[in-house]
Amino acid sequence: MDYETHYTFKVILLGSPAVGKSNLLNRMIHNKFDENIKSTIGIDFGTKVIKIGDKTIKAQIWDTAGQENYKSIARAYYKGAVGALLVYDITDAKTFQSLQDIWLPRLRNEHPEGDSDIRIMLIGNKSDLTAKRAVAKEDAQAFADQNKFIFLETSALDASNVDNTFNTVSSEIY
Ligand code: GTP
Ligand code: MG
Repeated sequence: MDYETHYTFKVILLGSPAVGKSNLLNRMIHNKFDENIKSTIGIDFGTKVIKIGDKTIKAQIWDTAGQENYKSIARAYYKGAVGALLVYDITDAKTFQSLQDIWLPRLRNEHPEGDSDIRIMLIGNKSDLTAKRAVAKEDAQAFADQNKFIFLETSALDASNVDNTFNTVSSEIY
């Protein structure tokens, strides 16, 4: 940690392959989108420095692989996270179901329910693809309410709600 950084915190991105986790990271850190991006192998991360008052805060965002072959690598990185973004693709109902069946239970394994040191957000990505919507906002909101998660729909492609997501998770932590 360099002397100018007052706090560092770690946020992880979780969800099925191809929901857009890496592009959300790209959008948050570099304000870029890459439609030909390769599926993540293992783990990747980026950092973003923000100022809150006179404090310098460094957010480390860990982008995990959705593919099952990297499951054990990714899980090692759940530890120490103070924020988690559970990401699904609004055009693919399976990816929403997988959050309930696979990704949330995996996260709960490291961060049990009631553990107040992790803030979890539900993110419905690809909101630009409205014509192909397969997950109703109401259903996602109900799942979020049940679990006390904040819910937002984002688009890594057109950048909608990406800064909002980052700012929300940061302000939930500080
Ligand atoms: P894994 O690394 O395999 O777990 O996938 P990922 O969740 O990191 O997905 P990635 O960012 O690699 O994106 C997968 C595909 O979805 C790519 O073809 C992207 O171009 C596309 N994509 C990602 N975000 C968006 C979005 O917001 N809108 C649209 N239309 N396409 C998107
Ligand atoms: Mg990826």
